[in-house]
Amino acid sequence: MTLIEDTKSKHYEKPDFSKHANVAATAPAFFSVWDIHAYYGESYIVQGVSFTVHEGEILALLGRNGAGKTSTLRAVARLDNPRVTYGEIWLDHKPLHTMASFEASTAGIQLVPEDRRIIPGLTVEENLQLAQIAPPIGWSLDRIYELFPRLGERRKQEGVTLSGGEQQMLAIARALARDIKVLLLDEPYEGLAPVIVDEIEKTLNIIKEQGITTVIVEQNAIRALMLADRAVILDTGTVVFDGTAQEVLDNEELRAEYLAI
Ligand SMILES: Nc1ncnc2c1ncn2[C@@H]1O[C@H](COP(=O)(O)OP(=O)(O)O)[C@@H](O)[C@H]1O
Ligand SMILES: [Mg+2]
Repeated sequence: MTLIEDTKSKHYEKPDFSKHANVAATAPAFFSVWDIHAYYGESYIVQGVSFTVHEGEILALLGRNGAGKTSTLRAVARLDNPRVTYGEIWLDHKPLHTMASFEASTAGIQLVPEDRRIIPGLTVEENLQLAQIAPPIGWSLDRIYELFPRLGERRKQEGVTLSGGEQQMLAIARALARDIKVLLLDEPYEGLAPVIVDEIEKTLNIIKEQGITTVIVEQNAIRALMLADRAVILDTGTVVFDGTAQEVLDNEELRAEYLAI
């Protein structure tokens, strides 16, 4: 039963998992977002978004500027804004839609926001240790430094003095320092040189091999599609495409219409 509802939303049918593409008829996918609606104040922004992600898959969530990608990630991570008024979010059979953001984080979802939020005055290592201050604890510092040798080399350096690429690595590492099931990345490649994007892409593939599920939002849609298994395209807060990443790469019209590439 849907637990989030208010008078603004019209009544929707109870989600039928069997009707959705890519989902086995018997059970919800590992991570399912069902018909979520969300508002900033009176502004109705996320207008009935649904998608599913299988365990260990990478989903690219794409769309033009202002399409609602960041809002969707924030809604799914259960941040206060935008306010979700209707819908369901399930992670590994747990209802995130009934949870506040700290509970959702404990259930295994972490958002790496566009601005990375490295904490000033703390070293690289202290930024990571702070993430591990409370359970559930994820990757050890040794394992993190093995994946990101640059962070190991700079562990005593203040986090905010790192290069843009290194700060992005630290932001991802901090998510892994928690015991996560789903990693939400908002524009991780923004402002980074192609060679650094290559490096981050490699680490995202390693993270995938370790079984973590990823949703990546990127303006650099081609790079995201090359990494991703599947793609969902948003336009004005609704889903206009749900399919494989290859289908989007092959469909020039679709890319021109919704991604301007
Ligand atoms: N804090 C906010 N308050 C009001 N409107 C917002 C806020 N953040 C974003 N919006 C609006 O929501 C829409 C979607 O924004 P956003 O989710 O950031 O899009 P995207 O990440 O796809 O570029 C835009 O019209 C934007 O102006
Ligand atoms: Mg955005």
